[in-house]
Amino acid sequence: MLHIPVLLEESIEFLIHDIDGVYLDCTFGRGGHSQAILNKLSKFGSLTSIDKDLDAYNYGKNLIDDERHSIHHKSFSEIDDIFTKESISGILFDLGTCSTHFDDATRGFSFNKDAELDMRFDQSKGIKLRDWINNAEEEIISEILFKYGNEKKSRKIANQIIQSRSKAEIKTTLELASIIQSVFPDKKFKINPATKSFQAFRIFINDELKELQDGLIKASKILNKGGLIVIISFHSLEDRLVKNFFKDEIVSYPKDIPVNNNVTKTFNCIAKKIKPSQEEIAKNPRSRSAVMRVFQKL
Ligand SMILES: C[S@@+](CC[C@H](N)C(=O)[O-])C[C@H]1O[C@@H](n2cnc3c(N)ncnc32)[C@H](O)[C@@H]1O
Repeated sequence: MLHIPVLLEESIEFLIHDIDGVYLDCTFGRGGHSQAILNKLSKFGSLTSIDKDLDAYNYGKNLIDDERHSIHHKSFSEIDDIFTKESISGILFDLGTCSTHFDDATRGFSFNKDAELDMRFDQSKGIKLRDWINNAEEEIISEILFKYGNEKKSRKIANQIIQSRSKAEIKTTLELASIIQSVFPDKKFKINPATKSFQAFRIFINDELKELQDGLIKASKILNKGGLIVIISFHSLEDRLVKNFFKDEIVSYPKDIPVNNNVTKTFNCIAKKIKPSQEEIAKNPRSRSAVMRVFQKL
């Protein structure tokens, strides 16, 4: 299945305020947002896209043949390798995974498809989930399940993983999913009980929250005054990080100093908690958890 871009019209509407401007799409994916941005720009505008996933980067190199566009295999925390000064009119972050990550069994993201446990966006570096989960301490596994998956049975799952791996290495997604499911023996679930754990492991393996934090810091430096930053999040950890990041940015004075007219506000909140319409959710159920926020640099 092709990846369907989420909140496409709404995000582009906010992002593009100068059709001759310089734009950055930090999450190329399958290029839905990038193509929509290029469609809106004049012949003087330009777009740089990045993605840390090698498949997405390679797909993008072949997809768009447009001299206004360039694409780099980079992560959020590396955008200052490409841009070093205030020069960007608008920056987009459409966070998380593409449908293609789950469809491609070889990537090890899906608990429905058997594959080696990998889950790295950037397969050229980092540690596969398989190598980590067979060596990590029980406490740490439990902490990650709780922190990144809000999994109430984090301790039991971690213990089950330890017991299981003492008999044989846990190699595949289906093996891990069945270990997690064994902690929920009797209940009937609307969603697979491995959902939260798989999300937690993915966030951990890709260091997603640290990447987002670094990306926002760097993005806010290279954005022009008046420039816009549009962020689409898919779970509350991301959305909370975004909200808190800009809360600090918005009121950038020490907390013990009273507010006065000299306070430098660096960002204005333009839009918050924008969600997909019922119509969009019906067409693309994956969009149901999306939340968009928009900030403008002053
Ligand atoms: C939801 S998809 C983007 C979909 C895209 N907007 C489209 O319309 O096709 C998110 C993409 O962000 C990439 N990504 C996730 N974390 C990243 C990071 N730290 N740096 C760069 N890319 C990242 C993923 O590899 C994935 O391709």
